[in-house]
Amino acid sequence: MGAKIISLINHKGGVGKTTSTLNLGKALSLESKRVLIVDIDPQANLSQATGIEEPETNIYQAICGEAELPVIKLSDYLDIVPADLDLSEAELRLQSDVNGYFILRKILDKVAVNYDFILVDCPPSLGVLTLNSLIASDYVIVIVQSEYLAVKGLQTIFNLIEKLKENLNTDLEILGMLITQTNHTVFRKTIAETVRGLYEGRVFQTTIRQNITLAEASAAGKDVFTFDAKCNGAEDYAALAKEILSERLAV
Ligand SMILES: Nc1ncnc2c1ncn2[C@@H]1O[C@H](COP(=O)(O)OP(=O)(O)OP(=O)(O)O)[C@@H](O)[C@H]1O
Ligand SMILES: [Mg+2]
Repeated sequence: MGAKIISLINHKGGVGKTTSTLNLGKALSLESKRVLIVDIDPQANLSQATGIEEPETNIYQAICGEAELPVIKLSDYLDIVPADLDLSEAELRLQSDVNGYFILRKILDKVAVNYDFILVDCPPSLGVLTLNSLIASDYVIVIVQSEYLAVKGLQTIFNLIEKLKENLNTDLEILGMLITQTNHTVFRKTIAETVRGLYEGRVFQTTIRQNITLAEASAAGKDVFTFDAKCNGAEDYAALAKEILSERLAV
């Protein structure tokens, strides 16, 4: 059976999509699941966070049909498809191509047999790249930062998913909403509780605490388990992987 493909999305920037793709991906690989993480953001933060700068080939060439999908091994059970800044040029090309919304699905279908999970790190927009990812995916994880106005805009995402389910991807499901960057302040606790109150069963039990080590690890080009396996960030992403494997999905 092919991989379960999961998009990590929110059109709001800086909420933890990239950090979650990398560290959830690593956590699943530590559970002996074969994982591919895919960078489909022209900012290429996921690639940089794994120490990859200016890769020889990146996802852009595969989207344009100029190269096979470049897959780089990161560690046991964990591979990455990198992006680079030129991916921003793909947006125009995809928009003007009648099949432009289905290209990622086609590309990932070819490698899906090699993995248990494929996690796609989406850009902070609901444009053609994110739509490619949503059309290619079985599941969505919506990343919600415990920050002012976090709830605003979530409805836009749910409306989009409902629209896709009508026609373009009838099997798409929300795997869960992940609350990130929580801390002990009353303010952030209230936001987390509000999100839980509004969306109840959809929200993962696990939340990701604010933890500077997550930022330090990315800056060092490493996942948090390799950087400091004992920090809160490692503990939280390991718990998230276990929750997904035991409660939401069994592979
Ligand atoms: N739980 C956390 N605790 C502390 N810092 C965090 C946490 N999660 C993410 N960060 C930091 O917050 C910043 C934004 O995170 P990240 O890049 O993962 O967000 P993003 O949603 O992918 O952003 P963009 O929308 O620009 O792609 C980064 O500097 C990251 O290191
Ligand atoms: Mg990002």
